[in-house]
Amino acid sequence: MTSRDAGPVWVFGYGSLVWRPAFAHRERRPAVLHGFARRFWQGSTDHRGVPGAPGRVVTLIEAPGAHCWGMAYAVERRDAEAVLRLLDHREQGGYDRHQRTLHEPHGDRAFASALVYVATASNPDWLGPAPLAEIARQVRRAHGPSGSNREYVLRLAASLREHGARDEHVLALAALVEAEDAEAAA
Ligand code: BEZ
Repeated sequence: MTSRDAGPVWVFGYGSLVWRPAFAHRERRPAVLHGFARRFWQGSTDHRGVPGAPGRVVTLIEAPGAHCWGMAYAVERRDAEAVLRLLDHREQGGYDRHQRTLHEPHGDRAFASALVYVATASNPDWLGPAPLAEIARQVRRAHGPSGSNREYVLRLAASLREHGARDEHVLALAALVEAEDAEAAA
């Protein structure tokens, strides 16, 4: 092992990892990834939906000038193999791992090179873009082994608000889901 390999392995969370990492880490800190936008373009048939009635979860889309706020986790190198195995299993092969630089949300200083999971457009669960109202309808209907798709969207939006992070796609979708809930209850 070289001295470069001695530090932690950083993992960037931008979906459920923001509020539920479910793996041991020695540090967590808010982070920004440049050049990517978060989108509900990946289908979920194993967590927030089921085959035939998929939910929608986030992935990252390359978009020059965009940025994505998330949570960075420092994993002890001795734990990294087990953590990556767990994440690879959790994401069931629809996502590729990339190595990307993370920046501090305030001041923009680069602080780590992290593993970032990005769904491939060729994976079998890929759904791609759709009008936000259509995505909201799908989210309100979908349920899977990890819970409702609605809960996933609203928890992500709540985490972003809690940290003062702006993400119009997520916040607008959460607002639509809540508005449709209110309409249905009226
Ligand atoms: C997450 O941050 O929850 C995440 C998103 C996509 C792949 C892996 C993890």
